[in-house]
Amino acid sequence: MPNHPQHKPVSPERLPALLRAMPKAELHMHIEGSLEADMIFAMGQRNHVRLAYPSIEALRQAYVFDNLQSFLDIYHAGTTVLKTEQDFYDMTDAYLARAQADNVLHTEIFFDTQTHTGHGTSVVTVINGLHRACADAPARHGMTASLILCFLRHLSEEEAFECLEQALPLRDKIVGIGLASSEVGHPPEKFAKVFARARQLGFRLVAHAGEEAPPAYIWSALDVLKVERIDHGVQAIHDTALMQRLAKDRMPLTVCPLSNLKLRVFPTLQQHTLKRMLDAGIVATVNSDDPAYFGGYINENFTQTFAALGMTSAHAYLLARNSFDASFIDASLRSQYVQRLDAVFETFE
Ligand code: ADE
Ligand code: ZN
Repeated sequence: MPNHPQHKPVSPERLPALLRAMPKAELHMHIEGSLEADMIFAMGQRNHVRLAYPSIEALRQAYVFDNLQSFLDIYHAGTTVLKTEQDFYDMTDAYLARAQADNVLHTEIFFDTQTHTGHGTSVVTVINGLHRACADAPARHGMTASLILCFLRHLSEEEAFECLEQALPLRDKIVGIGLASSEVGHPPEKFAKVFARARQLGFRLVAHAGEEAPPAYIWSALDVLKVERIDHGVQAIHDTALMQRLAKDRMPLTVCPLSNLKLRVFPTLQQHTLKRMLDAGIVATVNSDDPAYFGGYINENFTQTFAALGMTSAHAYLLARNSFDASFIDASLRSQYVQRLDAVFETFE
């Protein structure tokens, strides 16, 4: 692991409190995956959308998944209640309040437009609602937030181009472009041309790769799409040359431990490879992915994973520091956030 400022070692009993208190950035969270079951029902009622589940409890009980696709089917059903700009604002504002409670100082939020345009909602409605909540984040929640538009990889590259065109008038409201949805069978190179165009337009680039699919998907996200972060990337552990490349290039990985557990990427949290990746010099971060579905927001990801893997306060500092280093904020905001992180570690007893 790289050398970072020394701080007093924190006892294992105090570690969960430190994990909760430490300032952090969240870089991998799908806003539609923050829609809690009670909010799905409330929005369904106000927008007259009938759901296939009779109650909030029945919906929550359906949150048992075999793999990524079984999750995506339910996640897409939840998105049908989102109709108005205010719905997108309310969903985002609720997530920001929850993130602030976990001491998130900055978040880069994924959103799908193709899901919503597929339901007849305009890109303008979606992006304006999300963006207004992000713009209000400093005043309402004392934090910063930006937006990353994810293409849906189960759709065609032509459809991704259409989506990019529709979003261009709102370009200033989006920091980056990502790639999400059903991974296996839809490799990054399927989107080579549209990512090249997004890069020309000045967007920051990220992609889900190596969540369920093999290391080849991570190689092509790096070499064909030329992304700046890999989302998940946990399958890299099976490829020594790739692990060396990721470490050497300080390529960030946005890891989501409770997501990996719930989607059965790892049978137990004890078998998660986060600690091995950090110890191999990889710039990993911890994130919640779809917290309403996977049993916890970012602090729950930290505390459960640290308990399962026996990680230390040195790992905690590294993960929080990585989250700011890997974010797309400017250098002056980054240094303010890192100072706040250092101050918590210096004073933590
Ligand atoms: N969309 C929402 N969550 C996702 C995940 N974990 N992987 C791919 N696409 C997603
Ligand atoms: Zn994701």
